[in-house]
Amino acid sequence: MEPLSFFSQARVLIVTGKGGTGKTTVSGVMANLAATAGLRVVVVQVATASDRLQPETANLSRLFGSDRALAYDEMALRVGQADGEVRARALRPDTALVEYLHLHGLRRISRRLVNTGALDVVATAVPGMPDMLVLGKVKQMERAAAAGLARAPELILLDAPAAGHAVRFLQSPHGLLEAASGGPVRAQAEEVVEMLSDPARCQVVLVTTPEETPVSETVETAQLLEDRAGTKLCAVVVNGRLPVLPLPGGLGVDDLRRLAAGAGVTLGAGDAASLSAAGRLRLLRQEAQAAQVARLAEELPLPQLELPFCFSADLGPEQLEALTGALRKAVASWEPVELP
Ligand SMILES: Nc1ncnc2c1ncn2[C@@H]1O[C@H](COP(=O)(O)OP(=O)(O)OP(=O)(O)O)[C@@H](O)[C@H]1O
Ligand SMILES: [Mg+2]
Repeated sequence: MEPLSFFSQARVLIVTGKGGTGKTTVSGVMANLAATAGLRVVVVQVATASDRLQPETANLSRLFGSDRALAYDEMALRVGQADGEVRARALRPDTALVEYLHLHGLRRISRRLVNTGALDVVATAVPGMPDMLVLGKVKQMERAAAAGLARAPELILLDAPAAGHAVRFLQSPHGLLEAASGGPVRAQAEEVVEMLSDPARCQVVLVTTPEETPVSETVETAQLLEDRAGTKLCAVVVNGRLPVLPLPGGLGVDDLRRLAAGAGVTLGAGDAASLSAAGRLRLLRQEAQAAQVARLAEELPLPQLELPFCFSADLGPEQLEALTGALRKAVASWEPVELP
């Protein structure tokens, strides 16, 4: 499938997965690929209620060669190229509330909330409210995208909270729908639930590494998301797969020294022993990853998109290009799966 068709499946792609599996990286790589296909993309990083006071990290910016932390206002990550654009912003419940109040003619109330320091308390007082405020803002962006407004993004990638939180995050509007019998909160919840349940507007991309615990958690999250949030699952990204090296098993120290000598290299016994141990370890890890990828395919009937592990301490523009190329290839052989 062409990248443009892949990213035209839904206007909002929610990227979630176990903590540290690469949600932010995958959001950046997807945004970059979509931009090469000519789309105007915004990556929205969600700060949940519990981490709302921490400054947003610059992980995503670094991928695009910048050090600036994300803020509420959109920041350009990739602009001025012949094709598409990538911008990014961080959404927090309190700032989403201020904007909501402004839009509904309640500017004075919002100013007082900010001045008295009560903003946080109000934005997070009702369970589920912080998530709803953030999703409400995303829904507003999605509506602007659907209407084709000038400067509106064509694709929104939501770098969502980690899997455990994501289920609650996407379930919150459903909960508020049951709790509020009328008024603006109910109206907002209804509109958000409508977006989450419409696959043309919103789908979920799960991210996992090819390891036992993340794979198990991904399978569990997929079931919970479908059952409780009613949001369509689009694909699972298997991030950090080791490139498969054709390593012959069982190469001992003497074999290695002989092979090296054949190539004109003299290998000391110590080096040969280290090399042999490294080879064995790599082989074991490759096999373990392959087993987890197979288990994931068996337990979760979703198309898989594989991204390789990058041997680099920090991921920057060079790794972004490599990962974007890998995703392009994976998407090319991607086929939607109709879940029963
Ligand atoms: N394919 C990859 N190859 C090598 N390193 C990677 C890869 N993907 C992610 N990383 C590294 O792994 C770490 C975690 O990645 P990332 O921040 O994208 O994960 P996350 O799921 O967003 O984490 P969190 O749950 O903390 O938000 C980062 O240091 C990132 O640079
Ligand atoms: Mg992250």
